[in-house]
This record gives sequence, structure tokens and C-alpha cells, in this order.
Amino acid sequence: MPGAIYAEGLVKTFGTVRALDGVDLDVPEGTVLGLLGPNGAGKTTAVRVLTTLLQPDSGSAVVAGIDVLRHPNEVRRSIGLSGQFAAVDEYLTGRENLQMVGQLYQLSARDAKARARTLLDRFHLSDAGDRTARTYSGGMRRRLDLAAALVVSPPVMFMDEPTTGLDPRNRQELWGVIEDLVSGGTTLLLTTQYLEEADRLAHDIAVVDHGTVIARGTSDQLKAQTGGERVEVVLHDREQISTARELLRQFGRGEAQVEQHTRKITIPVTGGAKLLAEIIRELDSRGLEIDDIGLRRPTLDDVFLSLTGHAAEGADGDRPAGASATSTGEGDEGAEGDDEKEPVK
Ligand SMILES: Nc1ncnc2c1ncn2[C@@H]1O[C@H](COP(=O)(O)OP(=O)(O)OP(=O)(O)O)[C@@H](O)[C@H]1O
Ligand SMILES: [Mg+2]
Repeated sequence: MPGAIYAEGLVKTFGTVRALDGVDLDVPEGTVLGLLGPNGAGKTTAVRVLTTLLQPDSGSAVVAGIDVLRHPNEVRRSIGLSGQFAAVDEYLTGRENLQMVGQLYQLSARDAKARARTLLDRFHLSDAGDRTARTYSGGMRRRLDLAAALVVSPPVMFMDEPTTGLDPRNRQELWGVIEDLVSGGTTLLLTTQYLEEADRLAHDIAVVDHGTVIARGTSDQLKAQTGGERVEVVLHDREQISTARELLRQFGRGEAQVEQHTRKITIPVTGGAKLLAEIIRELDSRGLEIDDIGLRRPTLDDVFLSLTGHAAEGADGDRPAGASATSTGEGDEGAEGDDEKEPVK
């Protein structure tokens, strides 16, 4: 029995671009699938196909038990969509936008009004509710669009980068809204470039790159694939990076990532605090001065790096500017170019 969202072999090409190159998905009822991938991975294209907005070249999809290609109109009645680009009517007020959606979904005028009021409140838009949407800031529009997707509670929802452009408070708030929805039984497919978001909300994560799912699992399973915890060392002296890196390699279970501008070396380890103490002793005995050292669990960013050999470009909201310059050391230090990446498959 396929899940609430099911897709098999979806292919969609635009000219020479294979936006979807054989995507398979299966989302059990009442769960959240996080579709995680960098810019251009094919996330929006997948959402558009599953929500009947785009015909695939081949493959099949079933949403809420209904065949997407054969019965698109029925599918539309069973789903809610919040797209990557907010779709609100600029010339209506926030309240009118929400009431209009309610009436489109055949709520009575009174219910539509009540629902609009609740949602404006929930998304901190009550004060702006009677202004036209064209006076809204980007984040306000996005919130209005999300509220519109929640006017009726369809059994299956799609949200394409729902929190992009939201400030931290509103992002937290939306996470709460999503958690409530899901605990009420909604099935959700959510695309995101925010690794922490998939981590927090999704039961299951599908990592997409170049139109295919390159890894699938829970956040913990994906993290386990990257081989345990990380030791992060920030050296005091840039000159000592390559010596420290050599030393750390002996303790690590994979290759070291070097971030030259912050003098940070990161290496996957198993062995926890005991190993950390040993590393500190060893660095100290070699006269390598450190500014900071610590142990951390792998992030989904690490997962992406080990799966694709490159960081999740475009996910800049998750890391400080410039951190995408993280390298494996290859090329930075001519003689060190012998490290082969071993993508976890
Ligand atoms: N209508 C279109 N015409 C031509 N090419 C398209 C069209 N829609 C998508 N593409 C291409 O298909 C690929 C996948 O795009 P898609 O929008 O699905 O990526 P995405 O994962 O949603 O990226 P982002 O994180 O930037 O939103 C990209 O190379 C994109 O340029
Ligand atoms: Mg997109």
C-alpha cells in the first residue's frame, strides 16, 4: 500500500536540463518528508509535478490515494500547497486574501472570516490584516501565503521552502505550526535548504542532487553514514595548520576539512571525550597552540558533503558567510592533494 505521497521514476526535462532524473518517493501517511538539496537540485520541479502543476515526461505519482496524472482535479481538492514564491493577491488585504481562499474551498462566509482571524493571529499578521498585501514586507507575504495554505486542512500538504526569508522568531513559530499540523494527522512534503529544519521537522529525509535522490533515511541514519562525531580544532597560528592536520589524521576516521580563513580543522572521530582529551595532550606536546577545541555531532551539512563531495551550495542561511570556502585541503597545500573523497553511497 503506497503512502500518502508516492512517486516512481519521475523524469522531467527542460531542454537539455534533466530537472528530475528518475525520482522515487514514498511518504507514509501522517509523516513529514524533508526534500533536501541545493539550488537547482529539482525540489520545486518535484513539488510542481506532485501538485499537478507540471506534467512529467515519464513516471507516475499517487497523492492521497489519487493518480496525479489521471485525476489532477481530484488531487487538487485533497492537497494544500505553499509555493516557493508567495502567491498572494497584492490588491486585497491580508484578511481578504484568507477569506477568499476559504470561500474558494466552500467555507461559509462566517467560517471563512473566523478562520482568517485565527490565522492572521497565528502568523502575527493581525495588525497588518487590513492593509493591502502589496504593502507587506517579504517575510509578511510569505507568512500570509503559508496562512492561505492552511485555511482548510487538507490531508496532504506541500511546502516549498516555507521558511526561506523568515526571521528566526517567525521560523520557530512556523515550525510549531507545522508540528501541530502533523500531530493532527497531516502528511507533509517539505523542501528546504536549511539542514537544521529538515533535522527538526522531518521523520524522513530524501537528499536530492541533480534530479535524483542520492540518499534516504532519518536524520540519525544519515548522520551515522558520515561516521560519528566531529572534533573541531581552531588553531591559534595559521602556519601550524598543516602540521596539526597531519596529527589529527591519525586520530580521525576520515579526512580532515580545513577552513583556512578561520583556521579550523574538522575531522570525523569515534571515541568521544576520551579521544578529545588525548588529542589535546598530543597537540600540546607538539607545541601546537589552539584557540578552541570541541566535539560535536555531525550536522546534515556534513552528510551532504560526504554524499556529494561538495557542500550544500545555496544553503547559506545555515552557516556564516564565507564558510562555503571549506575545503578538504586539496589544492590549498599543493603536496596534500592525495586525499580521495569517498562519497558514502
Ligand atoms: N520552467 C523551467 N524551464 C527551464 N528550466 C527549468 C524550469 N524549471 C526548472 N528548471 C531547471 O530545472 C532544474 C531544477 O530546478 P528546480 O527549480 O526544481 O530546483 P530547486 O531544487 O527547487 O532549486 P532552488 O533551491 O533554487 O529552489 C534547474 O536547473 C532549473 O534551472
Ligand atoms: Mg525551488
